[in-house]
Amino acid sequence: MTFSTLLLDVGDDGIALVTLNRPDKLNALNAAVVAELDALVRQVSQDPAVRGVIITGAGPKAFVAGADISELVAVDRNSGTEMGQRGSRVFRAIELLPKPVIAAVNGFALGGGCELAMACHVRLAAPNARFGLPELKLGLIPGFGGTVRLPRLVGRGRALEMLLTGAMIDAEEAARIGLVNRVVPAESLLADARTMMLAMLAVGSAAVRLALQAVDGGLDRPMDEALALESTLFGEACASEDKGEGTRAFMEKRPPVFRGR
Ligand code: COA
Repeated sequence: MTFSTLLLDVGDDGIALVTLNRPDKLNALNAAVVAELDALVRQVSQDPAVRGVIITGAGPKAFVAGADISELVAVDRNSGTEMGQRGSRVFRAIELLPKPVIAAVNGFALGGGCELAMACHVRLAAPNARFGLPELKLGLIPGFGGTVRLPRLVGRGRALEMLLTGAMIDAEEAARIGLVNRVVPAESLLADARTMMLAMLAVGSAAVRLALQAVDGGLDRPMDEALALESTLFGEACASEDKGEGTRAFMEKRPPVFRGR
């Protein structure tokens, strides 16, 4: 499938690099980008050649500077609700991918851009990255999961400060409050994301899928249900070939050869 607003490059190492590609509009999310992201997520989810995904933005300035404001001007209650539902569904599909997804944040990650980064499993940021949910300054609130994911990542108080002031924070501050995992040099952002992804792909993909399911499923449940889910998924891991190989390899003092099942 070819895309007009996204670049997709799947390497021999199984890493899909997805670049949001509207640099002259700071990669703002218009309807076409959201529709293409939707199709792309379905494609990479079903493609066994893709083992992990890195998402970044084209150009030196922005990851994604938010929803495309020119399209927001005419949105009303009904179309706004639909827009929010569509964007949220696509971002949720990213979050629920059974393969690791790393955001490589190379500049502004505002509004929908911050929400996209938060839907990824892990975030690396270049020093020039700026994060914010400035929707209130437009008379809006976030519509693609920002009010839901930000408090889960950084806590209610910090989330409400960012949301209610609409102020941007820099990469260091984002790392300090847990919004990004790490700040790395701009020149090595993509290489560092690849290195982290390769470390994730070196473990068995069956266990990766179960770990993602346990964390995401667990966060959405009360403690006892979350623990029960983990026990079930632990049992599933115990039934996998990879667990047999991983534990045997440790006992035999050799590196494991995982088959992802
Ligand atoms: N929607 C649509 N277009 C956007 C955009 C957005 N969210 N963010 C940036 N752009 C466009 C600008 O209109 C401009 O287009 P033009 O050259 O045709 O006029 C281009 O991208 C470059 O942006 P510009 O504002 O000139 O860059 P800057 O360096 O002066 O400022 C920002 C950068 C990110 C601070 C500023 O663009 C901004 O505030 N963007 C909106 C952020 C926002 O509110 N996002 C949440 C939306 S819900």
